[in-house]
Amino acid sequence: MVTTETGSLFLQPDRNLALELVRATEAAAIRAVPFIGKGDKLGADGAAVDAMRKFLGTVNFDGVVVIGEGEKDNAPMLFNGEHVGNGHGPSCDIAVDPIDGTSLTAAGRQNALSMIAVSDRGAMLDASTVFYMDKIVTGAEGIGVVDIRRPIAENIRALAKAKGKPIGEIVVAVLDRPRHAEFIEAIRATGAGTRLMLDGDVAGGINAAMYGTRIDMCAGIGGSPEGIVTACAIKALGGFIQTTLYPTKDEERQRGLDAGLKFDHVYEADDLVRSDNTFFVATGVTDGGLVSGVRRMGPIIRTESIVLRSRSGTIRRVTADHLAAKWLDH
Ligand code: FBP
Repeated sequence: MVTTETGSLFLQPDRNLALELVRATEAAAIRAVPFIGKGDKLGADGAAVDAMRKFLGTVNFDGVVVIGEGEKDNAPMLFNGEHVGNGHGPSCDIAVDPIDGTSLTAAGRQNALSMIAVSDRGAMLDASTVFYMDKIVTGAEGIGVVDIRRPIAENIRALAKAKGKPIGEIVVAVLDRPRHAEFIEAIRATGAGTRLMLDGDVAGGINAAMYGTRIDMCAGIGGSPEGIVTACAIKALGGFIQTTLYPTKDEERQRGLDAGLKFDHVYEADDLVRSDNTFFVATGVTDGGLVSGVRRMGPIIRTESIVLRSRSGTIRRVTADHLAAKWLDH
């Protein structure tokens, strides 16, 4: 991407769709607030879904939900295949996660986010038949250096060398799950540290790829939809992601094969999203390493979001103050 005064960005600045989509994640996060710490996952998700859908309806684009709240019969809104946006403008795939971290929200824990990823129509991999992926995400230093086929210890050593950091200072974010017990041991055996995440590996991946964070790598098994969403963000951050599908049952593997998925294949960023035109937005629901959660300050509700766009390579942090009185239900 040319960024000089004669470069394309300056000659032909164009619309950044994500700057409009951020209103939808802000709305979802604000509406989830009454549910924080109340033990009601479904209530939190329902409120966020409802708000996100309303705001998406105002955006000038023709979006089809490819990663949503599930199938039409189970999900009344934002179901896979649903058209969102006002139907005009660019044709896009959209992945929505009104709350990544519904359990975190219900428990009143940190790191819950509302998020949306968008790409050109038909670009996002349909991995819906296989629930989990094994993933490895780093910043640009990992490109050509890290490889998911290698043992984690080798990858940590290679990344430390590429970053010019002692291994003891490398930090790997991993979902805190029993399935990762040996993996976590292998990471620590190198001398590197872990950041164990209760939930939310999209934020873990973004933190690994972004400059100025404390995370160097995010690795391990997490949701497939989250893998695609992470890839949209990684493209904008210029980072590195590789994934392999991780079926947990034979029937799941068969469904994946029937859908044309490959199990001996390393899915790189370009396989996960076959487009260089991606957008990613996330607003904090509860406080986290990436952004702060929604905060009530007297008459104001403050939201914090990140807004990423691959074509321009911009990373924006958007803080918005909303007059609370405008958000009351009448
Ligand atoms: P939801 O809040 O949308 O349920 O997802 C939370 C999450 O932690 C994801 O970030 C992660 O990819 C996935 O769940 C991991 O799945 P599991 O909890 O089954 O290990």
